[in-house]
Amino acid sequence: MLKGRSLIEPMDLSVEELKEILDLADKIVDNPLEYVDACKGKILATLFYEPSTRTRLSFEAAMLRLGGAIMGFSSANSSSAAKGESVADTIRTIACYADIAAIRHPKEGAAKVAAMSTDMPVINAGDGGHQHPTQTLTDLLTIRSLKGSLDNFTIGLCGDLKFGRTVHSLIKALSRYSNIKFVLISPDELKVPEYIREDILIKNGLEFEEVERLENVISQLDVLYMTRVQRERFFNEADYIRLKDSYILDMEKLEMAKKDLIILHPLPRVNEISIEVDKDPRASYFKQAKYGMFVRMALIIKLLGVEK
Ligand code: CP
Repeated sequence: MLKGRSLIEPMDLSVEELKEILDLADKIVDNPLEYVDACKGKILATLFYEPSTRTRLSFEAAMLRLGGAIMGFSSANSSSAAKGESVADTIRTIACYADIAAIRHPKEGAAKVAAMSTDMPVINAGDGGHQHPTQTLTDLLTIRSLKGSLDNFTIGLCGDLKFGRTVHSLIKALSRYSNIKFVLISPDELKVPEYIREDILIKNGLEFEEVERLENVISQLDVLYMTRVQRERFFNEADYIRLKDSYILDMEKLEMAKKDLIILHPLPRVNEISIEVDKDPRASYFKQAKYGMFVRMALIIKLLGVEK
């Protein structure tokens, strides 16, 4: 039963519950008009203490397409956080006005604190370099829709695997499916955190390798998940500048890839996928952004318990 629950990290959902959400998202994709009144009379609050285009606006589009209403703020400076209000006090106040909230915050654990401070469902829309579970729902729906299954494939995750919260959440979620091989492609300084390597990959006996060169592994991949180097998480600008162009996917590298590869990216893209790649049929990152709206529609319906 998902009604009334919060979503803070992917493991909050069982594989069966994930399937329920993805199945509903499929139904919405096929027949969106059936859901135009699903959230009539309900209000979604979007509390964004960090910048966002896709997550905030796809949440808002999702609620509007379900017939609900939206309110919120898009920067900490335009809320009373600027006066020193805590996340706990903010969410208790928002719960007086809204039925469900999505929160993005630069501090790891902020969404959990919010969820613990209210009975209203709270959705983590990204907490620091930690987790981004609704991006994971987006990624799972995209992979399942385009590859037909969440089992039996090799996925390359490339770029900033240290700070990239979408990567951490996706590895956690995929760890529960069968026969997935993880190829982790990053500079030495941007490898996945120890807790992902030890507690998820090694502990679950998953097949994985860590490499530095995309060219050496691209031919074996079924899914390539590119990520940007997360400038906002670096302590020092010189390190960011040195590492920011570690990977640039271009047509020359794609020559070596499978014809049915799918290229994903949570976006925003900075420089890590050449614009020329956008025309290649394997480029799926804008489709992915659209799936993000549909899966958030499904999630909102499930957490509010308004499914017919
Ligand atoms: N993928 C993602 O989280 O994008 P935004 O930062 O634009 O929300």
